[in-house]
Amino acid sequence: MTGLGEIARARGISFGAAMLTHLMQRDPAYEAAFAAEAAVIVSEWEGKFAALQPEEGKFDTSLLDAQLRWAQQRGRTLRGHALVWHESLPAWAERALTEGRDRALGIMTAHFDRVLSHTRSQIRDWDVVNEPIATAGDQLRDTPWLRALGPEYIDIALKMARERDPTLRIVLNEYGFEEDVPEALLKRQQLLALLRGLLERKVPLDALGIQGHLHMSRPFNAASFAGFLAEVRSLGLQVLITELDIRETWDAPQEIAARDALVAERTYAFVSTALEGGARTVLSWGLSDKYSWLANTPAVAMGQGRVHRGLPLDDNWQRKPMWHALARAF
Ligand code: XIL
Repeated sequence: MTGLGEIARARGISFGAAMLTHLMQRDPAYEAAFAAEAAVIVSEWEGKFAALQPEEGKFDTSLLDAQLRWAQQRGRTLRGHALVWHESLPAWAERALTEGRDRALGIMTAHFDRVLSHTRSQIRDWDVVNEPIATAGDQLRDTPWLRALGPEYIDIALKMARERDPTLRIVLNEYGFEEDVPEALLKRQQLLALLRGLLERKVPLDALGIQGHLHMSRPFNAASFAGFLAEVRSLGLQVLITELDIRETWDAPQEIAARDALVAERTYAFVSTALEGGARTVLSWGLSDKYSWLANTPAVAMGQGRVHRGLPLDDNWQRKPMWHALARAF
């Protein structure tokens, strides 16, 4: 049966999903779904700071390498996520980032040296900086990197990536500006100002990663989002969807069929708008509701009893209306 990766590839689009190594190795149905559906994978955990450098100077690429091997054996690609982020930082790094500018620069340099030299011929696309703008949207997020290096930490990171890998696609990845609510519209303006500033300072940057963690409780305005994408593209930047999933706002299981249809509609509207706006890479944040972070991460879980149906496959790996909406969008 033709999977989304093949359907998308026929139209020049790369589709894939976030993968967890331990599930790929433990659950045959999980691995089979990725083999069937994903032309590109992204590390859900394995490319993060805490995964790669759990202790200072002790790098562990074993989980990432397992994904690289899986991808290479099947002619797939792996995109990198995420070199500089305020979450998934090990305690030693959190502490060290409070010990002054030189210490912080040393930590970033050592991490980029080791990781980008290891992945240079294998990963051609990294989320170098992840979620730099505050949720409120009116300033840079207050992170250990910002506190240690100031706002120029973003410039430093992007330049450092380019210096280590001249042909890498350097991506700045962000969320919370996709929908038509005041804080998202404010975040769009803040994001555009950030992108313009970076490019005016000739900081190397190739693409904006649009995470795409959507909420059914929020309106989506395709024309407005298309206008924003056009502004990003006018800066000479590519755009890609990096973490698509859809948070539902209901908890009555009997509503599932009707709500799945609404989720599919939203998926089609969002993804087709992004594709019309120039996106050629689309990843969902997992493939099946069974393992969605929306169900397993307290910070975002919708609460007990809530059904999580924000991914293309259901708990039993069956294709949902959202799967068909993606196929239609491609
Ligand atoms: C999440 C993973 O899904 C979780 O398993 C992990 O515990 C924390 O990170 N935005 C991002 C991703 O850029 O890295 C996050 O992934 C989800 C939000």
